[in-house]
Amino acid sequence: MINLLRIVTKVRKAIRFLHSVYRSGGYSTVKVQNVSCGDRLDGKRVLITGGGSGIGLCIARSCLNEGAYVVITGRNESKLMQAKSELDSPYLKTLVWDVGNIKEINSRLAEVRSLFDGDIDVLVNNAGVMSVEQFGGIEEVEWDNVYAVNSKAVFFLTQAIVKEWTTQPFHNKYKKILNISSQGGFIGAVYPYRMTKWDVAGLTKGLGLLLAPKGIIVNGIAPGIVATDMQAKAYMERDNLFTNLNPINRVALPEEIAELALFLISDSGNFIVGQTIICDGGYTLK
Ligand SMILES: NC(=O)c1ccc[n+]([C@@H]2O[C@H](COP(=O)([O-])OP(=O)(O)OC[C@H]3O[C@@H](n4cnc5c(N)ncnc54)[C@H](OP(=O)(O)O)[C@@H]3O)[C@@H](O)[C@H]2O)c1
Repeated sequence: MINLLRIVTKVRKAIRFLHSVYRSGGYSTVKVQNVSCGDRLDGKRVLITGGGSGIGLCIARSCLNEGAYVVITGRNESKLMQAKSELDSPYLKTLVWDVGNIKEINSRLAEVRSLFDGDIDVLVNNAGVMSVEQFGGIEEVEWDNVYAVNSKAVFFLTQAIVKEWTTQPFHNKYKKILNISSQGGFIGAVYPYRMTKWDVAGLTKGLGLLLAPKGIIVNGIAPGIVATDMQAKAYMERDNLFTNLNPINRVALPEEIAELALFLISDSGNFIVGQTIICDGGYTLK
């Protein structure tokens, strides 16, 4: 009986796999080897918006592995709790916080500082929402919802943190801001999601120039398609990452974006200023 169950499970798995190859039109998979030095962010306090899942969660894991204290935020408490139990670190704190609520920013930042028992050293503007409709069918409410999180919140949160940072003397230790844009921020944009990602890349350039003399280094990442909740569920199963939308013929794993994030927010990336690094498997070369 047990043997029969095992065979049925194997056959089901094989059928699921063949179905995914048929559905995607090909087969790609990848393993990420993480570079771990163990102390690249020793004692740094890193705030990651939207860190309860996907790219933010992987950045949180990488930061913890490199000695940082981390606060992750999001609207969904159970998602944050799940992330907390998955990462299982005493150096990780969570905060339920809708970053689209601009009026709350200062009080929430006070909570973050109290969770850290100190000031923030690194801000990762990662929280984002996707728009559904395409040009021709976009309602104002969808525009406002996407802009509120992907663009307006990034601006006002960054402004509030920088205001605090610039009241303090510079002690030869850079503060860092990392903005998550998208490959969509580097190609023609006709719907709100992509347009907000142009905003983010533009802000990264502008703030890079403005804030570097004050000891604050601002950079960004423009990921291509990444296997997270934001994308098709099929990719999340990770057994087939194939896509024909980019020359590398696969989507990225969030761990790959986290590797780059870690480089940029650690001292390794100190001489990179105002850049949004495109990490898209070659998509924008087309
Ligand atoms: N996946 C991709 O293909 C891709 C490609 C390019 C760029 N990106 C960008 O990468 C970033 C992370 O996305 P992801 O792919 O990791 O998808 P994800 O797993 O859906 O992560 C997005 C996170 O943002 C949080 N969030 C959304 N609205 C929020 C709000 N108002 N306040 C606070 N948190 C909020 C969500 O948490 P709650 O639901 O708990 O609020 C969620 O944890 C986004 O900026 C996205 O635009 C993703």
